[in-house]
Amino acid sequence: MADHLNRFLVLTVLLGLFLRFCHGGVTSTFVRKVEKTIDMPLDADVFKVPSGYNAPQQVHITQGNMDGSAVIVSWVTQDEPGSNTVLYGTSEDNFEFHAKGKLTQYTYYNYTSGFIHHCTLRNLKFSTKYYYKVGIGNTTRHFWFTTPPEVGPDVPYTFGLIGDLGQSFDSNSTLSHYESNPIRGETVLFVGDLSYADNYPNHDNVRWDTWGRFVERSVAYQPWIWTTGNHEIDFAPEIGETQPFKPFRHRYTVPYKASGSTAPFWYSIKRASAHIIVLSSYSAYAKYTPQYKWLEAEFPKVNRSETPWLIVLMHSPWYNSYNYHYMEGETMRVMYEPWFVQNKVDIVFAGHVHAYERSHRISNVAYNIVNGECTPVDDRSAPVYVNIGDGGNLEGLAANMTYPQPKYSAYREASFGHAVFSIKNRTHAYYEWHRNQDGDAVVADAMWFYNRYWSSADDSITIFS
Ligand SMILES: *[C@@H]1O[C@H](CO)[C@@H](O)[C@H](O)[C@H]1NC(C)=O
Ligand SMILES: *[C@@H]1O[C@H](CO)[C@@H](O)[C@H](O)[C@H]1NC(C)=O
Ligand SMILES: *[C@@H]1O[C@H](CO)[C@@H](O)[C@H](O)[C@H]1NC(C)=O
Ligand SMILES: *[C@@H]1O[C@H](CO)[C@@H](O)[C@H](O)[C@H]1NC(C)=O
Ligand SMILES: *[C@@H]1O[C@H](CO)[C@@H](O)[C@H](O)[C@H]1NC(C)=O
Ligand SMILES: *[C@@H]1O[C@H](CO)[C@@H](O)[C@H](O)[C@H]1NC(C)=O
Ligand SMILES: [Fe+2]
Repeated sequence: MADHLNRFLVLTVLLGLFLRFCHGGVTSTFVRKVEKTIDMPLDADVFKVPSGYNAPQQVHITQGNMDGSAVIVSWVTQDEPGSNTVLYGTSEDNFEFHAKGKLTQYTYYNYTSGFIHHCTLRNLKFSTKYYYKVGIGNTTRHFWFTTPPEVGPDVPYTFGLIGDLGQSFDSNSTLSHYESNPIRGETVLFVGDLSYADNYPNHDNVRWDTWGRFVERSVAYQPWIWTTGNHEIDFAPEIGETQPFKPFRHRYTVPYKASGSTAPFWYSIKRASAHIIVLSSYSAYAKYTPQYKWLEAEFPKVNRSETPWLIVLMHSPWYNSYNYHYMEGETMRVMYEPWFVQNKVDIVFAGHVHAYERSHRISNVAYNIVNGECTPVDDRSAPVYVNIGDGGNLEGLAANMTYPQPKYSAYREASFGHAVFSIKNRTHAYYEWHRNQDGDAVVADAMWFYNRYWSSADDSITIFS
């Protein structure tokens, strides 16, 4: 009898602990010193124009096709169009290949852009370091990148996560911490809101140029996968600018056609062991729209035997418990969440809210307008939702949270920072979020992910907070 009682007690305590781990949402006790977030001045070191006549600037790369064997190299020349050609090769002193790109230019109100070059390097070998140079003829600049391993189910690969970056002193800390993170990110998944140029009078596009020069130190050497946010819309009829996404479209190219998409705002890529779907919160997504039809056709193409990890990027979060942008993602959630659960998406990264939050595995798909079942519930087939809009832009931190913390929210903290998602094999991935704390990067949230297709184990336990 006593033995039974003891066992019962032990079980109760264990169960209690388990439930607490599963449901005890944590609001971080770390309180960041709230200082004004200010943009770096135009003469900041990170905005320096490279020296030399017509020197290429704002060099950036992104994936160029479906499987990562192509890379798009983009850059801007200011004085004259200059050469469209990229020379590249696998050794530093033998640029055996060349590719010719395309040139574009745009005006925005009274701003005229430099000469914007986009050039796709194709048929690259996997897991290979390539050296490349741009600006052939006048001032040449040299860079390098490493191609991803061939797509396959157990290929380890590490993604960095950055959102809502902007160009403040805090943005610079976030980028520096990402660069110095001992868990080396090989590709950045960027969840939207790049330069915040639109916060300047007439959306001063000079701030698109400074942003391009600021992030070059990372994005010229490793691809950043682009998602569009509201700060990319640049819709300003009051100054005659009525074509949404005009600066973004000219400056940032993405391989959307490779996934059968008809616009550069929603598309997918495969990289190593991940299938990454990029969605647009600011393009139509209702039934019958191009984005809806594309996504409906996309899910059946995901082959978890080839790419076990299914990751979705979007700008406006579906689950967010801060008092900012509350419910803005709700209509897209209503449209697409059932698909995410049916297709066992592993993780969704969003930005927009300038703070950090991670959810448990939950879904809210039972509601049908009359049954009243509109509460998020635990759901092991559902993704974890991460808000990583904490890059550090000039709009400052989102520090006002709703109370009590909703049960679906596992961890939330109003700090700037970045994260890494490190895939080990088809079943395991290690995820870690770093806050910017007085100049240091401090691990503040972490989780081992068990793949939703290859493992039925519950992984919603915070191991570090
Ligand atoms: C930005 O960060 C880099 C690297 O940490 C540093 O060298 C540079 O001085 C910083 N610039 C500004 C304006 O803070
Ligand atoms: C554009 O117009 C604004 C004011 O309307 C002015 O301050 C700025 O200098 C102009 N820029 C250029 C490049 O003409
Ligand atoms: C830049 O290069 C082009 C093509 O090689 C050449 O025609 C032009 O004279 C050069 N400009 C200067 C200032 O060297
Ligand atoms: C899925 O990928 C696996 C491994 O690459 C392959 O053997 C299989 O044929 C693919 N399935 C489909 C339906 O394409
Ligand atoms: C936080 O947001 C709520 C809801 O919008 C608002 O009522 C409240 O005044 C805000 N608190 C602070 C300190 O700004
Ligand atoms: C997958 O990775 C995890 C974490 O590194 C490891 O514990 C596990 O043994 C690996 N699985 C296989 C089949 O190698
Ligand atoms: Fe945003």
